[in-house]
Amino acid sequence: MPTQEGGSILTYDADLRLKGPLSLANPVLALPFRRIGDRGLGGLRRALSTEVDQGGDHPPAGEAVARTADELLEATVVGSFSSVGARVRKRTAGWGLPPRMDGRVVLITGATSGIGLATAVGMARLGAIVRIVARGKERAEQALAIITEAAPGVDAGYLLGDLGELDQVRALAAEFTPGHGRLDVLVHNAGALLKRYRATSAGNEVTVASQVVGPYPLTGLLLPLLRASAPSRVIQVSSGGMYTERFELDELEMEPSAYDGTVAYTRAKRAQLVLMHEWVRRSAESGVVFHAMHPGWADTPGVRTGLPGFYKVMRPLLRSSEEGADTVVWLAAAPEAVVTDGRFWLDRRPRWENKAPWTRLSDDRLARAGSELWAWCAERAGWDGLPLGA
Ligand SMILES: NC(=O)c1ccc[n+]([C@@H]2O[C@H](COP(=O)([O-])OP(=O)(O)OC[C@H]3O[C@@H](n4cnc5c(N)ncnc54)[C@H](OP(=O)(O)O)[C@@H]3O)[C@@H](O)[C@H]2O)c1
Repeated sequence: MPTQEGGSILTYDADLRLKGPLSLANPVLALPFRRIGDRGLGGLRRALSTEVDQGGDHPPAGEAVARTADELLEATVVGSFSSVGARVRKRTAGWGLPPRMDGRVVLITGATSGIGLATAVGMARLGAIVRIVARGKERAEQALAIITEAAPGVDAGYLLGDLGELDQVRALAAEFTPGHGRLDVLVHNAGALLKRYRATSAGNEVTVASQVVGPYPLTGLLLPLLRASAPSRVIQVSSGGMYTERFELDELEMEPSAYDGTVAYTRAKRAQLVLMHEWVRRSAESGVVFHAMHPGWADTPGVRTGLPGFYKVMRPLLRSSEEGADTVVWLAAAPEAVVTDGRFWLDRRPRWENKAPWTRLSDDRLARAGSELWAWCAERAGWDGLPLGA
């Protein structure tokens, strides 16, 4: 509205209210939302003031609101990990469809359901050439039908293999390599939280075998293709559960007598980050970037069967698989992802890797842990094509 002095009066109304079952969270979130509004208004005022025009370096108002909303959500784990986080962040500035991926080849493990399937659909819709890894033909074909229905005309296909079985991992890489001249994005998504101890055919605990050891030679054997397609990306789907664990190699693989599926899972997820940093150390300047992310809490078959109690309580606040997969798709497509390396993401922003002081390792200790874990995986997998400093 114009003023008599020749300026303008600008009013700013933001109605941040969650709907449906999520409205249960409105009373809890009223105060953070009010603070978001206040800080957003402050950002708007600064952005419009002459002081800023004369050289201030504040971010634009929309970005300031987005950043403030994001920080507030991140401070509350439930707000950040649940659908509240996904939906509030999605409405903030700069959140659009990721760029097209036409002609880029992506390989996604565990894409028969949940986050992996949503990732495959998301990338197919952006025009990528999609290859998924599945353990069974029937599930693979069902997933392929969903992907092709969502993105008609997509070039999609599958390979069969269990990530916990090293001979199958080697066979996967051997099958993929000759048929594809490039690999732009490799997504390590396959994973499960097992209630009872299970061993692979080589006698190793399945969680660690399939989520830490198996992905290691798969990346290694596909590295020539990734390098040939540089800048290319390797994305590890980890979990916020890893915040509860400090990395200890001695405790990584649990014995049957002391087995706890949740602990085995969160330790494996922490180990994925340690290994990701080691890949970064060993492949600097290669044009291949490595990132890890966590999807928040999403409503998937894996959560329904792996954490039934959690699922029952949290169901109204769980994200959709698409919301969980959003950051994987964004990391695969966005140019921002190749200008950084070795970060841990949630909802398109890098996050701290520790929330508790007892899980934190100094840089030296983290580098030593990475070397030890690398050597351990190399021995298990029989692959070490990337010695440090090579
Ligand atoms: N949903 C969440 O809230 C959440 C939170 C944090 C992290 N995550 C992570 O997100 C990833 C996907 O989980 P999700 O929730 O989407 O579960 P999901 O729907 O159960 O999907 C898991 C996928 O992994 C595959 N898989 C499991 N073990 C495998 C193995 N040994 N070899 C090959 N494929 C294997 C499954 O294939 P089959 O068809 O053969 O069973 C399935 O495609 C996992 O790494 C999980 O840890 C999920």
